[in-house]
Amino acid sequence: MLAVIGGSGLSQLANLDISHREILRTPYGEPSGAVTFGQICGRPVAFLARHGYGHTIPPHEVNYRANIWALKQCGTVEIISVASVGSIRADLKPGDVVIPHQIIDYTWGRKSTYHEGPECTVAHIDFTEPYDPALRKKLIQAAALASIQVSDSAVYAATQGPRLETAAEINRLERDGVDVVGMTGMPEAALARELGIPYAAISVVSNFAAGRADSRDGISFESIQDVLHESMGHVRTLIEKMIGCGDTTCS
Ligand code: HPA
Repeated sequence: MLAVIGGSGLSQLANLDISHREILRTPYGEPSGAVTFGQICGRPVAFLARHGYGHTIPPHEVNYRANIWALKQCGTVEIISVASVGSIRADLKPGDVVIPHQIIDYTWGRKSTYHEGPECTVAHIDFTEPYDPALRKKLIQAAALASIQVSDSAVYAATQGPRLETAAEINRLERDGVDVVGMTGMPEAALARELGIPYAAISVVSNFAAGRADSRDGISFESIQDVLHESMGHVRTLIEKMIGCGDTTCS
């Protein structure tokens, strides 16, 4: 089963034909909310709202370990993570959709591994390619089929939040080679890898990063909300296409 983790702007999948919701308990505590199960074009899909269904959990307080564990527990074999990002690159504009290929982790103090505690042996996952290449390819091909323009590579920076960055921090991220910046990509991607679940991300540019273009004098929360509202239609279409909606084999 495919699972979709929705971020700001995507607290539900409107195209999901819901069968039931389940509150899952994990050894790591409670996930952000109940997992919603259903079908899209007859294919099973699970959905979890990363920030809770009332959007009450900030990025640094999301229980990433419980979320990924819960999805594994209910039979998830692929995860698509949807999240908004700020763009550092001038050619990536608000409303654009990006499928990042690399991550730099600037977060701190988050529970970021399952391999800790007295009972655990030391383990080092390979994370050279943080996103699953085959799943990324499926997303990129689906975008082409759906005629949705996506940027098929970008370096994603995960910052701690919940505040946005300073202009100087964004300049530093650019020097580091970052293209887009968000607050939730890590440790989510690493935890999925630890549990062996292929994971890829759809990043929706909601704003230019601090100090850039029309964010030179500040970033307005209202304009972020408006952009996300408009762009999530593309994200839903992209997910449907990836699942295979419209294929002759699809019921
Ligand atoms: N910075 C960090 N996270 C974000 C941004 C940003 O500019 N926009 C959306 N999520």
